Amino acid sequence: MSGRAGRLAAYLEQRRRMGEPGFVPEGLEPGELITLLSASAERPAGAPAASSRTVPAGRRGITIGNADYEALRETALGCTRCRLSDGRKTVVFSDGNPSARLMVIGEAPGAHEDETGLPFVGQAGKLLDLMLASVDLSRTDSVYICNVLKCRPPGNRNPLPDEIESCTPLLKRQIELVSPEVIMAVGSFAAQWLTESTKALGRLRGTVYGYHGVPLVVTYHPAALLRNPGWSRPVWDDLQLLRRVMDGK
Ligand code: URA
Repeated sequence: MSGRAGRLAAYLEQRRRMGEPGFVPEGLEPGELITLLSASAERPAGAPAASSRTVPAGRRGITIGNADYEALRETALGCTRCRLSDGRKTVVFSDGNPSARLMVIGEAPGAHEDETGLPFVGQAGKLLDLMLASVDLSRTDSVYICNVLKCRPPGNRNPLPDEIESCTPLLKRQIELVSPEVIMAVGSFAAQWLTESTKALGRLRGTVYGYHGVPLVVTYHPAALLRNPGWSRPVWDDLQLLRRVMDGK
């Protein structure tokens, strides 16, 4: 299977591995699912599969190259590379201190973030602030926060693989420019992208990885922690691991 149907199959497999219920991805109407599948099925034999790198008509590609921080931010704010630009109110680029030692990377903006243009300002964000505070870190000075996706997926559905592929060139350059000493991924989308793994978060956590030589710790997303208070202990352990890495111990 190739093209959009292949990407959809990969997405559903990813959800299955993460233990997410349901066949139709959240926020995707069954009709849209059928359109995605049939568009791929209708491709005449021998015709090239639509590349996920192709920017659809009416959208502008983004040029990142060696953009400096301000140019990168401007590029992100004007990005129309994927469908998420159609429904967003604001592009959510970052919050915190770009000179911080720690970069926290989440999944995607939700409704509050889309309204305010700042990552992690809703309920999950308040919990993230508490998690950071528990190891003596604060978003105002010691942390830089951003997401894998800069625009809100409709209805807060999970990011689709082609949206991640469209958006991550921005994130790659953002990481290069911020040049953190340590990265913490919160939630499976950030953790899987940064570790290049498809393992569930519960199997990824507890290890220090390297992202291009930068130590990387992963933990549950605070929204998942709100739904599963039993994960407080592993999150606490992950934060202690983060603290030890930051302290060079
Ligand atoms: N969840 C995220 O992953 N990021 C946000 O900015 C808000 C909620």
